[in-house]
Amino acid sequence: SIPPGVWNAIDYERLAVQSMDAGRYAYVAGGCGWDRAVAANRAAFARWAVLPRLLRDMRSGHSRITLGGLDLPHPLLLAPVAHQRLAHADAEIATARAAAATGSCLVASTLSSCTLEEIAAASGPARWFQLYLQPERAHTLDLLARAQAAGYAAIVVTLDASIQLASRAALAAGFVLPADCVAANLRGYPPSAPVALQDGSSRIFQGAMRHAPTWDDLHWLLQASPLPVWVKGVLHPDDARQLQAAGCAGLIVSNHGGRSLDDAPASLTQLPAIRAAVGADYPLLLDGGVRSGQDAFKALALGANAVLVGRLQIYALAVAGALGVAHMLQLLVEELQAAMAQAGCATLADTTPNCLTPSC
Ligand code: FNR
Repeated sequence: SIPPGVWNAIDYERLAVQSMDAGRYAYVAGGCGWDRAVAANRAAFARWAVLPRLLRDMRSGHSRITLGGLDLPHPLLLAPVAHQRLAHADAEIATARAAAATGSCLVASTLSSCTLEEIAAASGPARWFQLYLQPERAHTLDLLARAQAAGYAAIVVTLDASIQLASRAALAAGFVLPADCVAANLRGYPPSAPVALQDGSSRIFQGAMRHAPTWDDLHWLLQASPLPVWVKGVLHPDDARQLQAAGCAGLIVSNHGGRSLDDAPASLTQLPAIRAAVGADYPLLLDGGVRSGQDAFKALALGANAVLVGRLQIYALAVAGALGVAHMLQLLVEELQAAMAQAGCATLADTTPNCLTPSC
């Protein structure tokens, strides 16, 4: 059941600290290193205020949006978050049910605790599959075919996580992935044999980055994928322009929730320049630091078509399972609609940078 004292979506963050094991909480809440990029995401939202407008007729208002051919009742998506069994025994099945109940588009992670087929069976029609390119192209092709067969409408390829250094907070809490947290989708794909580093070679360049995707791999994926391909992890306007030209269906401006590079900029900070680079009509999503409907409104005003929610879904999942995630999403939608109404925006098309003003 929903615990007392949950009045806003962000209350789930406060309650998760109490309901989650300290190590697991630190792993989810943390980013990498000193968690500076995590803090930057939040600080970027705090720099803006929503500017109220008076007397506009809001009676025909709504938060509907069409995204990648899907008609959605609101622009809040569930970001791909790996290993959801860390938060709840029902794992992604619970988040999928919550997405279905609230009409939210779910982006299922390659590294989910349940298989993509199990998630599809529990979710509504709005579902995308987040892809990590596999060292063997045959395995990537198999994932693509499975996603298509299971009715996923798009592929979201994440390109910003080839190297992820741990958060000092998670290390200090002694977090290690428990044995029951396996990537269910990858069970059938034997890992390639480890290659010994030669003398003088780098643990980073020749080690961790050995299988990191390159532009060649992206062009290959765009040819090979039976589904439209979105790219997640874009922070540079030039990359955005090049990805748009390559034929990606849309982009997700993201610093991976601050989990890839500790001194990365906030995704919200990069959004206006990326919107300017790709033009007004190209689909652009944002994630990183969204903890309220007002945050979502700010991202929409600064040029995003929709936003994804990462950690909040895990906090709500840990606190109250599927019901908690559905409740959290409902709270976010109402907070967003209240911000729209206050700002005089009857539809998402009315949100512009003029709806915001510096907060101090
Ligand atoms: C993630 N994220 C992520 N992204 C992705 O593309 N594939 C993945 O498997 C994961 N796994 C994952 C695990 C955990 C514990 C977290 C917190 C995040 C990143 C996620 O999709 C998203 O970019 C951020 O979570 C957004 O920031 P907020 O909303 O958490 O602040």
